[in-house]
Amino acid sequence: MKQINNNPKKKIFSGIQPTNTPHIGNYLGAMKNWLKLQDEYECTYSIVDLHSITVRQDPAKLRKQIMESFALLIAMGLDPEKSTVFVQGHNPRHAELSWILSCYTQFGELSRMTQFKDKSKKNSDNINAGLFTYPVLMAADILLYQADLVPVGIDQKQHLELARNIAVRFNNAYGETFTVPEPYISKSTAKIMSLQDPFAKMSKSDENPNSSVSVLDDRDTIIRKFKRAVTDSDKEICYKEGKDGINNLISIYSAATDKSIEQIEKEFDGKGYGDFKIAVGEAVSDMLKPMQERFKEIIKDKKYINDLMILGAEKAQRATFKTLKKVHKRVGFVVL
Ligand code: TYM
Repeated sequence: MKQINNNPKKKIFSGIQPTNTPHIGNYLGAMKNWLKLQDEYECTYSIVDLHSITVRQDPAKLRKQIMESFALLIAMGLDPEKSTVFVQGHNPRHAELSWILSCYTQFGELSRMTQFKDKSKKNSDNINAGLFTYPVLMAADILLYQADLVPVGIDQKQHLELARNIAVRFNNAYGETFTVPEPYISKSTAKIMSLQDPFAKMSKSDENPNSSVSVLDDRDTIIRKFKRAVTDSDKEICYKEGKDGINNLISIYSAATDKSIEQIEKEFDGKGYGDFKIAVGEAVSDMLKPMQERFKEIIKDKKYINDLMILGAEKAQRATFKTLKKVHKRVGFVVL
């Protein structure tokens, strides 16, 4: 007998670029939430290789980074049976929907994207069309899976608003086709700042290696980077306006230990910045250790990674067949 599912799980989609090893901003701002959500929702998580070539990449390094980023998601605890974990380029429907949606996106809208403006400044010798249409591909990623929620850091909010606008526009023109997605952003970890400049976001492309902590950094390196973190000339460890460096460290410590800001302020009452910085480094290292140990095992087994990539690709392709077919029908293509 055919079963009717009255209470389907809500859907989640999110992605990460394989441009470098993820840092603790990526981990706390996005990846940690991915894990938290995987039991309650139907989740799809992607290593977005197509997005990464908007900036010139070394092919051998990129291939290695894709393998490693994928292995990290598994090492982190994502269950490839329960969730769909896949490499974006392994499902060609992303690129296809992206083309269609680009015909429903205005030049003016894309010109207003702050990441496009920032990246064009940083890569002034390579302002390619892909960099400009990047947010359309991101909209295609999300809409293809009919995602209800998209867990991201705050830097992706503008792209998500564009995805929502494209979905609403398409639905208004052709009738309900896409779910209009909502952002899922954790307030306290939405924007982890650079350890060297508390006014700049922690970023994979920062040239100063002390500005960010990679999720694969060893314990000594992590503690050393936190010891060198730029703070202020005050002494008190408390979360307040104007103490951006300390506020950032408190947010990181809180996320790594699950302690509240009040508990942290009490714990370090009367103690100095030096002690606090070491404690943050130790907590971050403890948080990352299980993932690092698992990663070391997984990355040795290329066949295991390859098999899981095939599984993810099959699941991703299966999940998106219907939506793309519907889009073809809606816009007037001949569907065979
Ligand atoms: P990417 O690869 O730059 O970053 C991956 C995730 O990490 C978050 N993030 C941060 N969170 C807090 N503090 C920070 N300093 C920090 N830096 C990065 C990002 O917000 C992101 O959630 N365009 C996306 C990838 C993407 C995507 C998608 C995301 C492609 N398609 C569809 C969601 C849905 C990007 O470049 O993320």
